[in-house]
Amino acid sequence: MALDFEGRVAIVTGAGGGLGRLHALALAARGARVLVNDLGGAVDGSGGSASAAQAVVDEIRAAGGQALANGASVTDFSAVQAMAQQAVDAWGRIDILVNNAGILRDKSFAKMSMEDFRLVVDVHLMGAAHCCKAVWPHMQSQNYGRIVMTTSSTGLYGNFGQANYGAAKLAQVGLMQTLAIEGAKHGIHVNALAPTAATRMTQGLMPEAVLAALSPEAVVPAMLVLAHESAPTRTTLCAGAGGFEAAFITLTEGIYLGQGGQVPEQLAQRLAEVLDRHGEQVPASGAAQGTLEVGKAMAARG
Ligand SMILES: NC(=O)c1ccc[n+]([C@@H]2O[C@H](COP(=O)([O-])OP(=O)(O)OC[C@H]3O[C@@H](n4cnc5c(N)ncnc54)[C@H](O)[C@@H]3O)[C@@H](O)[C@H]2O)c1
Repeated sequence: MALDFEGRVAIVTGAGGGLGRLHALALAARGARVLVNDLGGAVDGSGGSASAAQAVVDEIRAAGGQALANGASVTDFSAVQAMAQQAVDAWGRIDILVNNAGILRDKSFAKMSMEDFRLVVDVHLMGAAHCCKAVWPHMQSQNYGRIVMTTSSTGLYGNFGQANYGAAKLAQVGLMQTLAIEGAKHGIHVNALAPTAATRMTQGLMPEAVLAALSPEAVVPAMLVLAHESAPTRTTLCAGAGGFEAAFITLTEGIYLGQGGQVPEQLAQRLAEVLDRHGEQVPASGAAQGTLEVGKAMAARG
């Protein structure tokens, strides 16, 4: 099956360089019309220029594709709404949103300012929420949409010096979970991509030999699968160096202790049973936890 994007309209944020540029080029090469968004700032989010997005648009056009440039910051909701309108005015629809824009402000939590925490959350979480909100009514009325969040292994598992970034990145998985549930009846699939790639963002964060193996091109197939008509929904795909994995948020079977004065001590004593992963599930929605717990309480009552 060829992953064809003919007739589709895509918005890729942060597509003036790094992974976003490759996502935009790949979607365009497979037939999509692509709105290339990028603030054009430094890796810490400072500065800005529309030339980064324009250069990628020029590349797409030179290869015979259709593209438009947009220099909005994803942190600015009215500019993001104008960006969605720009795509609709030009091409009449929005089929795909790839939330890729991102910055880093790494420091150990002890040394991190709250300003750096807030800015990183603003770009990654609020930026993604703004873009989803702006495209949502268009996708709803079309009864079709594909949204790809960009999460990170830092969000999923943690990394030293990235408390702000990790929190913001896992927040995108949380956004995915509920948007996928709400989007289901409108044909909107929402997924997340956890890439590992040598870009300016990871320069200096990993040894050169490791970075040499992590070509950013190797991430693009996972984005294409998540953005395509055949995409799954509520899936977190990990991709790097040609390897592909899936990450899940699971719920263990746990135990039932009921209520009473000895429960704290009993829980402490039996914590290993609670943590035992045998029989764990990937809940279909947040309701699963309450259902499981109330079910145990009812069963204990007989
Ligand atoms: N490279 C990796 O290993 C890796 C790992 C996990 C997640 N990611 C994520 O992948 C995405 C792409 O990162 P990259 O590695 O290509 O780095 P990058 O710095 O090359 O790309 C990020 C792009 O986002 C743009 N951007 C930043 N703030 C913006 C804003 N407010 N509005 C619009 N555009 C903005 C930047 O100008 C830049 O072009 C990011 O979300 C990043 O967090 C990357």
